[in-house]
Amino acid sequence: MNRIAEILLDWYAREGRDLPWRRTRDPYRIWLSEVILQQTRVAQGMEYYLRFTERFPDVASLAAAPEDEVLKLWQGLGYYSRARSLQRSARVMVDQYGGCLPDTYSDLIQLPGIGDYTAGAILSIAFNKAVPAVDGNVLRIAARLTACGDNVLDPRTRQHIRDALAAVMPTDRPGDFNQAMMDLGAAVCLPKNPNCESCP
Ligand code: ADE
Repeated sequence: MNRIAEILLDWYAREGRDLPWRRTRDPYRIWLSEVILQQTRVAQGMEYYLRFTERFPDVASLAAAPEDEVLKLWQGLGYYSRARSLQRSARVMVDQYGGCLPDTYSDLIQLPGIGDYTAGAILSIAFNKAVPAVDGNVLRIAARLTACGDNVLDPRTRQHIRDALAAVMPTDRPGDFNQAMMDLGAAVCLPKNPNCESCP
């Protein structure tokens, strides 16, 4: 595991996807992209991300909008509770955090619609904190890499993998590390028929 950061970041520089939310450091936009991508594929989420950032360029505009308008813009993405939570969180950010995203795990995790994975993604990508974002893709990659036969559905396995990743994450580029894992899981380390020949 110790060598994966260097290898992964090198691969990411060559093969990582050029996505609109990777061209910003704005925590609001990064949060928005992560919520959209929770149950939506990148190809479909892109259009919605662009729509949302155009209509609601910041936390304050999202918080102030009528809920109907937010839901209308979300139409087609499904899982409407995500849109409602998004706006509820925006309102909490306006009321309690001066219209900004909080930058600690304990504050983020309390916001509607932000779970462990999304908190890790936001902290690493937007705030440069070395927190892993562990989802099914990451569990699969880590289990294969270490030939770990433990059940990844067991919370203890999950915690073990999280700790192992936290220990090897590059502190200078944690967001790139997490996003490299996402891209590897989406393009190479597939659940079935993985493209092992193109694996870094
Ligand atoms: N899926 C969830 N978050 C993502 C991100 N930041 N980039 C690509 N795919 C993702």
